[in-house]
Amino acid sequence: MNEFLNVAIVGGCGRVGLPLGLVLATRGCQVSLLDIDARRVEQVNAGQMPFTETGAPALLQQVVGKSLRATSDARCLAAADAVVTVVGTPVDRHLNPEIHDLYRSVDSALQDMRDGALLVLRSTVYPGVTKLVYDRVRDLGRNIHVAFCPERITEGKAIEELVTLPQIVAAFEPEAQARVRDLFARITPTVIELQPLEAELAKLFTNSWRYLNFAVSNQFYVLAQTYGLDFNRIHDAVTRDYPRMRAFARAGFAAGPCLLKDTLQLAAFSGNNFFMGHAAMLVNEGLPNFIVNQLRGAGLGGKTVAILGMAFKAESDDPRESLSYKLKKLLELEAGEVLCTDPYVPDPTLVSVERALAGADIVILGAPHAVYAGLEFPPGKQVVDIWGFWRHAAGGCGTMAQSHA
Ligand SMILES: NC(=O)c1ccc[n+]([C@@H]2O[C@H](COP(=O)([O-])OP(=O)(O)OC[C@H]3O[C@@H](n4cnc5c(N)ncnc54)[C@H](O)[C@@H]3O)[C@@H](O)[C@H]2O)c1
Repeated sequence: MNEFLNVAIVGGCGRVGLPLGLVLATRGCQVSLLDIDARRVEQVNAGQMPFTETGAPALLQQVVGKSLRATSDARCLAAADAVVTVVGTPVDRHLNPEIHDLYRSVDSALQDMRDGALLVLRSTVYPGVTKLVYDRVRDLGRNIHVAFCPERITEGKAIEELVTLPQIVAAFEPEAQARVRDLFARITPTVIELQPLEAELAKLFTNSWRYLNFAVSNQFYVLAQTYGLDFNRIHDAVTRDYPRMRAFARAGFAAGPCLLKDTLQLAAFSGNNFFMGHAAMLVNEGLPNFIVNQLRGAGLGGKTVAILGMAFKAESDDPRESLSYKLKKLLELEAGEVLCTDPYVPDPTLVSVERALAGADIVILGAPHAVYAGLEFPPGKQVVDIWGFWRHAAGGCGTMAQSHA
């Protein structure tokens, strides 16, 4: 058994920090979740999850007040053998990486950390940031080991994936490499070692690849719809019993807090020569505009439109960078009324699904939550289902999914 470790997570009450903290707290670590969000800190210490994450509520009950606690007091860093930072790394309004929050949080963590401790960057960072942090530590004359270990979970499956997915770890020096390998070997059987710049690119390649993959399907969707054809019928035909097309995704909103901004981080790193990344952005971000353009042809003015599902993806309560909200904004310029609903997203402007459906002339599926599978639409309503969700929910016969074309 590994020695008992004291771990602090900066940004510990967020979507990445909290699941990691929960898992480490069951693997021989005393975990402090440091966060500036006082409400989240209070919720976690009261045993309540601040967001939905499968399997997390039971784990939280098991460890809170014992091997895990949340705090806003940075003094918890002084006792830590390892400090993991997972604060957000957004792009700015010019689509360039915004790394100052990360730098500020690392700088302030360094003030409290003790010499000999390990600092692990877990946020998705712009390539080269690990080296800059490493140089900063040396310039300050501090004996702190720096490592980078990217988070690769998908929201909603974090607890399962943290203990099953391989972990990529990287550091400049053997001792830091050994320490970060030992930390993550506590939670997963497979640890993959890379150089820091390789690991930074590995994470950005992963998210960009997924974003491009969705863009291909969305481009094909737009193409088929433009010719009055049903993309999902074609998708079903080419993927059935044909393993080479297994990676052919369905069409749908490709959004959320990570895929686009990480594609843009890679675009910035390439000196804005990542043509496929920018093209993918135009296609994926253009999908709400395409829907509105098609609806405009059949007349939008004066009509009531319902958007079902405001989270950025199915079964999620996370509305960050959701294209349903972009669609809502576009529709508000042209439709009579826009009614939005979601059973999971905490947004006081949302209405119940019954209210949304009752008033709507046009129904658009924004996020294919499973609870919508059994919905029935009275005759006369126009239904837009880019995902092909109701076609499959209805056993592939397509009875409920009508094209808006
Ligand atoms: N959400 C995902 O599915 C996912 C997956 C892989 C990687 N990532 C990456 O992980 C990072 C974090 O993403 P997230 O979704 O967990 O964000 P989040 O907003 O859910 O969590 C960030 C947390 O950090 C806290 N915070 C911000 N500044 C702080 C500071 N100075 N000190 C202490 N706490 C601070 C916030 O209050 C928040 O609770 C990003 O780089 C993201 O790209 C996210």
